Amino acid sequence: MSKRPPVARTLPVLHRAIDGLRARKAQVAIVPTMGALHEGHLTLVRTARKRGLTVVVSIFVNPTQFAPHEDFGSYPRTLNDDLKKLAGENVDLVWAPTAQVMYPEGFVTRVAIEGPAVAGLEDTYRPHFFGGVATVVGKLFAQTRADFAMFGEKDYQQLQVVTRMAKDLDLRTKVIGVPTVREKDGLAMSSRNVYLSPEERQTAPILHRTMKAVSAKARAGESLAAALADGRKAITKAGFAIDYLEARHAETLAKIASLKEGPVRLLVAAKIGRTRLIDNMKA
Ligand code: PAJ
Repeated sequence: MSKRPPVARTLPVLHRAIDGLRARKAQVAIVPTMGALHEGHLTLVRTARKRGLTVVVSIFVNPTQFAPHEDFGSYPRTLNDDLKKLAGENVDLVWAPTAQVMYPEGFVTRVAIEGPAVAGLEDTYRPHFFGGVATVVGKLFAQTRADFAMFGEKDYQQLQVVTRMAKDLDLRTKVIGVPTVREKDGLAMSSRNVYLSPEERQTAPILHRTMKAVSAKARAGESLAAALADGRKAITKAGFAIDYLEARHAETLAKIASLKEGPVRLLVAAKIGRTRLIDNMKA
């Protein structure tokens, strides 16, 4: 029978639980999430389990990575359902702090990252975002003293940013990237997909389809610039307001002009109605 994992809500409880796991000589993986768990999140958990790791899942809707006009207030919060889902996955511990625990009175520190965090992608449209992510992820790594951390390629720029941060700060936690889990029609799973109307949901897979088309054209010898320009047109025609569709170096996220400068990653962000979706794939 599956059993709900224990939940720590304060630092003393977390530290005692982590000490207990470590006493068993377990290698610990942290899976940071904001909850509203779906198959993408569960795949991160399963990947860690397959590696024989003890799994701690954090669930925390992090206020510092949302701008005032963004969806912090309406972001889905489904802790009870999340715990039920995790019960089926053999998770060892859930870390679900309150904002007061994560950011107590007097908290003033922020982790600032350059390189992949200022690549002119998400950072252009969400300038506060990576400072908030890096700060909370740095805290999660320190709080759990995890050996590994599982992150989805779905949030590709975030994956590069936290990988860089862990290296630069000599943190013991090694970041592992996990491929994007998609719906049957290609739409990348996301907690924000619940915002889509039925019509928008039908249109949404065009992002993935367009990236595949751009990749195929570039591989067939068409210039990347021309293939991307066609892709932007197709996405706009489908009813999206596009933020970017770009080809970048897969590790540094530097601009590139041809597949020869690779490995290359295609990255897209666009709004349909009120929902902003992001996706990416290997070119
Ligand atoms: P959240 O959006 O909940 O995502 C948590 C983790 O799940 C991230 O590493 C994300 O890339 C991964 N993920 C989401 N959808 C996925 C999919 N379809 N396939 C594979 N992995 C997927 O990302 C965050 O939360 C936050 O920024 C966080 C890192 C927790 C910091 O607050």
